[in-house]
Order: sequence, then structure tokens, then C-alpha cells
Amino acid sequence: MALAPPTFAAPEQYLESGFLLRSYRPGDGAQVAEAVNSSYAHLKTFMPWATPEQPVELSEQLCRLFRARWLLAEDFTIGIWQPDGSRLLGGCGYHLREGGLDLRNAEIGMWIRADAAGRGLGTAVLRALLRWGFTEWPWLRLSWRCSSANLASRRTAEKGGLQREGVLRSHMIDPGGDRRDTFCYAALRDEWLREDEQRQRRQ
Ligand SMILES: CC(C)(COP(=O)(O)OP(=O)(O)OC[C@H]1O[C@@H](n2cnc3c(N)ncnc32)[C@H](O)[C@@H]1OP(=O)(O)O)[C@@H](O)C(=O)NCCC(=O)NCCS
Repeated sequence: MALAPPTFAAPEQYLESGFLLRSYRPGDGAQVAEAVNSSYAHLKTFMPWATPEQPVELSEQLCRLFRARWLLAEDFTIGIWQPDGSRLLGGCGYHLREGGLDLRNAEIGMWIRADAAGRGLGTAVLRALLRWGFTEWPWLRLSWRCSSANLASRRTAEKGGLQREGVLRSHMIDPGGDRRDTFCYAALRDEWLREDEQRQRRQ
């Protein structure tokens, strides 16, 4: 099989006062299993991958797969860590679901562990992903999709600075088996940079 040479070197990490965003690494599996398993009740409604007891070995395999795909510039799955890196607070990512890297589009996904949710972290991480994505990554368009029933996700998208672009009716099936509409949001680099300049001037 001929592999395209991976010429894109993704930025490795982004630090803010409340959290650190970085690629998963070999050795992160135990932290991922603990965060996901302790958050199952919180995640199961909208996260199809959530299971009640994810074995550490599977989490570790996933971390290695995420790292490999990162290095090959196939997909960018990111852990949300406490600033000192000692505890996993959730996960997010820039996913190539709207074309290849050359199109410079990515879809942001996110989950926050149950005991850290509802305190502003999701909104802060989304804002950081827009800032990091539009200043250090090549993205021109960053999107976000969620179930119309996911009120926390809709509100996070709106508070975080994304624009609602439309609704795909009866588009997917939620993990509970119900057909649902999908709300589509996005931000564009040029618009975000203009708005950021205005934000800076106001400060
Ligand atoms: C969606 C999610 C990432 C948001 O992260 P978070 O840290 O909880 O978000 P924030 O604390 O920044 O809250 C953002 C807004 O959502 C609101 N919100 C949070 N949980 C809510 C809920 N269960 N129902 C309704 N609104 C909710 C908050 O009140 C806040 O709005 P406000 O400031 O106007 O009150 C998190 O709740 C989560 O992990 N959910 C499960 C996984 C998931 O659905 N991921 C998104 C897939 S698209």
C-alpha cells in the first residue's frame, strides 16, 4: 500500500489557566478509562461510543491509535487535562469529517467528564479550540454538530462563538434509538479574526 508522506506537523499542545489541550499518548489509557467510566451516565445519551465499563487495555489501544492518526495527519483527537497534566477532564478534537486536510475544514467534537461539567469548562475549551485552531492550525472553517435534543451542546456552541447554519431533519439516530434532527454550527477564520480584533480593542 502506498502511503502519502505525512508532511503536516500538527501543533502539540495549548495551555490556558484552567486546562491543557494535548494529543493523547501511550500511557494515557488508565486516565481515559477512569474518566469515561465514571461519566457513563452523563455520556450515554448522546455519545454512541460510551460503554459502562471500558477496559483500560482498550482505552490504551485507543490512545495509541489517536496518536498514530495524529502523526499521520488523519485525525486530531485531543485530551483536556488539568493544567499540570495530572487528571483528564474530558476529550475533544479537530476531526476531518468535512473533507481532507487540504480543504482546511474540521469538525470539533467534545465531552467533559461528569464531575467537571456544567461549570463553564466546555465553553472555555470551545473558545480555546477556535483561538488555537484559527491561529496555529491551518483551519479556515470549524464546525460543530449535535442532536437537537442536546441542549447543553447547543448552548455551548452558541456561547462559545459558533453560528448556527441550519438543521438536518431526521438525520441520525441517537444512542437511545430515537431519530433526531442535527443542528449544524460553524465559525470561519476570517470572521473570527475580525471579531477577535474587535474584542482586543474593547479590552
Ligand atoms: C456538552 C458539554 C461538552 C458541555 O460542557 P460543559 O462544561 O457542561 O458546558 P458549560 O458548563 O460551559 O455550559 C454551557 C452552557 O450549557 C448549559 N448546560 C450545561 N448542561 C446543560 C444541560 N444538561 N441542559 C441544558 N443546558 C445545559 C449551561 O447552563 C451553559 O449555559 P448558560 O451559561 O447559559 O447557563 C458537556 O455537557 C458534555 O460532556 N455532555 C455530554 C457529551 C456531549 O453531549 N457532548 C457534545 C456532543 S455534540
